[in-house]
Amino acid sequence: TRPLKVALLGCGVVGSEVARIMTTHADDLTARIGAPVELAGVAVRRPSKVRAGIDPALITTDATALLKRGDIDVAIEVIGGIEPARTLITTAFEQGISVVSANKALLAQDGAALHAAAESAGLDLYYEAAVAGAIPLIRPLRESLAGDKINRVMGIVNGTTNFILDKMDSTGAGYQEALDEATALGYAEADPTADVEGYDAAAKAAILAGIAFHTRVRLDDVHREGMTEVSAADFASAKRMGCTIKLLAICERAADGGSVTARVHPAMIPLTHPLASVREAYNAVFVEAEAAGRLMFYGPGAGGSPTASAVLGDLVAVCRNKLDRATGPGESAYTQLPVSPMGEV
Ligand code: HSE
Repeated sequence: TRPLKVALLGCGVVGSEVARIMTTHADDLTARIGAPVELAGVAVRRPSKVRAGIDPALITTDATALLKRGDIDVAIEVIGGIEPARTLITTAFEQGISVVSANKALLAQDGAALHAAAESAGLDLYYEAAVAGAIPLIRPLRESLAGDKINRVMGIVNGTTNFILDKMDSTGAGYQEALDEATALGYAEADPTADVEGYDAAAKAAILAGIAFHTRVRLDDVHREGMTEVSAADFASAKRMGCTIKLLAICERAADGGSVTARVHPAMIPLTHPLASVREAYNAVFVEAEAAGRLMFYGPGAGGSPTASAVLGDLVAVCRNKLDRATGPGESAYTQLPVSPMGEV
């Protein structure tokens, strides 16, 4: 069988881990897919950066030329942010290339248009890694629970802020001190705004609500409150009430089914609740479905290797679809329900 050729767009923390596992686990991936899968090119911004284990001949700064060279089957987008990721994904679809992406900001903003482009071209767009790192969540919602009716998705979807809140809770540290530790350990970015102000969690909430409720929810539809105002004194009073504080993403379907809400804000959690014991940079998400009841998904929500695991799972699925001349679940059955930030649920 001819090898399936993969273009890797971006080679930072996640991309380099994807490349590494593609090389070290090549035989396993071949067995899972039923055909060899080959890293055919790696598009980067700074070619001079040393990338251990990657053949320098694969490195290019011209992502567009890589996608247009005519033999690529799947593109993995791990650049992040809106541009150039959006243009490159669109180019991939124009070239007949299916896409695996880890890009929550882009999916939350332009998911509808990108899905439409993929579907009209008969291609796949998979993005398990965009929400909650290694935790299988997107495909369980889209596939395993497709026969059920989901009413609520709620949980901790940002590892950095959970790490900070956990530190504040367990050591009595203030916000700044806990943030400094998160930065020193490599959890928080140099600019932690997207995490601590709740933008990252809100993007993930938009993606989860859209998939869970089969509707379009954009980042702007999500009520968002970050956790920068949470103080050591708040933790002290929470403790007196037998609670801790977590930054939650909450997506709900109105009781009459006519609208949905999505919101992100700090919340008091009783210490007896399973979410209270989610420590460090872990994520946990509850899903409530009519027939299934209450499900909990828990695991590492960030980091190169957990995120690469989700990317590679998508790569296997997309490659299998390609060989079967099939595509994953389409999105054309979406309806547009009204989205109210806080809603009357
Ligand atoms: N900054 C994100 C987090 C990375 O801390 O959860 C994973 O999406």
